[in-house]
Amino acid sequence: MLILRKHFAVHRKWFAMFLAITAAAVFGYFYWAHAHATRLPGGSSPPGLILGILGGAIIIFECLLWPRRMLRSWRWGSARLWMKAHIWFGLLTVPLILLHSGFMWGGWLSTILALLFAMVIASGIFGLVMQQFLPRRMLIDTPLETIYSQIEQTMQMALADARNLVLATCGLPKESLEASAHSQPSKESRSLPSKSSDRREGGRVVVGAIRQAELIPGQLLRVPVPQVPVPNCEVLRQKFNATIQPFLERGRRFRSPLSNRTRSAEFFRQLRAVLDPEAHSILEAIEECCEQRRQFDLQTRLHWWLHSWLWIHLPLSMALLVLMFVHAYVALKYW
Ligand code: HEM
Repeated sequence: MLILRKHFAVHRKWFAMFLAITAAAVFGYFYWAHAHATRLPGGSSPPGLILGILGGAIIIFECLLWPRRMLRSWRWGSARLWMKAHIWFGLLTVPLILLHSGFMWGGWLSTILALLFAMVIASGIFGLVMQQFLPRRMLIDTPLETIYSQIEQTMQMALADARNLVLATCGLPKESLEASAHSQPSKESRSLPSKSSDRREGGRVVVGAIRQAELIPGQLLRVPVPQVPVPNCEVLRQKFNATIQPFLERGRRFRSPLSNRTRSAEFFRQLRAVLDPEAHSILEAIEECCEQRRQFDLQTRLHWWLHSWLWIHLPLSMALLVLMFVHAYVALKYW
């Protein structure tokens, strides 16, 4: 975090630059006001004009961050340097533009400009705070995190694993058994976990890989699959079809007790109490799949907070840039 001591050391020079320029601007502005017996000089006064030009030049520089990111071949300075300059010069525009305005809203154009400016600054600070907190929170709260664009695909694999485990534990449903006694192998029996289709290794199914988090190495959960169906497991199939499968498929979009960790633990505890101990390891693996879904949902939410603010910051910055030129043109025309 910018304000934490260990990070502040990196920003010390920038902060000193911010304070020095702000102090010089405030001093020059009020000195001129005092010398000319004016209370708060506006944008057309010499200090107001100079500060306006300086603030405008910085705003143009701030907007260069966008082409700099888009044009990969354009590599002037490191990304870190650009980011530090962006933050501190961006913050510096606040005192400069405030002094330039003479602490007045002015006409409708300058009022819109001031509101846009305030929103760009506020969204920038908001984004910066998100960028400091969220990646760390992701590391701690979502150790099963995966590449964002692959979340649904990974979840589909986890769902297929869970389905195979339920099928191997409970056997074929009664209706399928009756149907298969009279006809061709049913669709479901064709999807029975086969040694080649599921990820079996010596009677075990590998469910979900846990990514390496900091120094803790990744770990694979290997589930021993029952070689014959476990008796009295119908309740597992029912709960799987009614509650677990829709949750694994849709996550938070399916309002489910499983989206809450405590309620999910209670749900599985109750299920464990009525199931044969032989099915407990399978239940644990399915519970792990639900944990994976919860973490992916959290990752999706954090990802949204981490990136969506740019959809405000960037377009408003562009609008600010355009209106700033209109404002300068109009102000100079009627000067
Ligand atoms: C007049 C003021 C400002 C303007 C015109 C402006 C404009 C921009 C532009 C054009 C981008 C590039 C967006 C992109 O690459 O998609 C950007 C990114 C960003 N801005 Fe600002 N900005 C201003 C002030 C600030 C301030 C005061 C802060 C924080 C204190 C800030 C924080 C950020 C951050 C964190 C990014 C994202 C950079 C990244 O992740 O690559 N901005 N801004």
